[in-house]
Amino acid sequence: MELIKDINKKVLDWLDERYDARQWIRENLTEKWVHKHINWLYCFGGLSFLGFLIQIGTGIFLMMYYIPTPKDALASVQHIANNVPFGWLFQRLHSISANVVNLLVMFHMLRVLYHGAYKKPREFQWVSGVFLLLITMAMSFSGYLLPWTQLSYWGAIIGTEMPGATPFIGEWLLQLIRGGAQITGITLTRFYAIHVVVLPLTLIVFLGLHFWMIKKVGISGPM
Ligand code: HEM
Repeated sequence: MELIKDINKKVLDWLDERYDARQWIRENLTEKWVHKHINWLYCFGGLSFLGFLIQIGTGIFLMMYYIPTPKDALASVQHIANNVPFGWLFQRLHSISANVVNLLVMFHMLRVLYHGAYKKPREFQWVSGVFLLLITMAMSFSGYLLPWTQLSYWGAIIGTEMPGATPFIGEWLLQLIRGGAQITGITLTRFYAIHVVVLPLTLIVFLGLHFWMIKKVGISGPM
């Protein structure tokens, strides 16, 4: 115990000398002050972020075993759930938390709406939030196809027919999303790339903007 304390102190001293670590910890963690009016309703933004971190952690694990081809996709998901140690846990966590994150983001949005926190000077925070909501929903939709079950297949048919109904560009949009006229292996690899690279990176950019604005403007005051 003494040894750990000693190492801890030495590491902190080293960081302190260079980066004022203790002051940073005091200001941002141990002695951070929040306004009196902040209550449990304000927890949904942070919980959405926590959910997103869980999705990244469990998602990286699933990527190690998942195979994005029509022939192997379902078998690889079943292999994760039945044979890989703790695979069932990571897989369940990933799919349950995907649903929970959508709910949390909507609760967070309702809280912001109820408190009128979208008003000046937080208009862009709201706009970046709308993008975050759309990306979160697109993550769920693209992930839903990956197990390549009957449900995923028909879900993707319906989901892609919606943008397909857009006037003038609908047909073009539908073919772009599906990678052809039908849902095929091309759609699967397309959705996989969007799900694990394009959307998470875009989400990180918008989260960075969202958090930067919160830091810059601060949380809204009492109603
Ligand atoms: C992945 C999704 C999101 C995450 C992780 C996130 C995270 C956060 C966090 C941690 C806060 C600090 C205050 C709080 O938690 O209530 C916040 C504030 C805010 N968020 Fe989000 N947010 C997300 C989506 C959204 C959405 C969908 C909207 C609205 C369309 C939105 C609009 C705002 C606004 C306007 C504030 C400032 C609130 C205030 O100052 O009282 N956010 N967000």
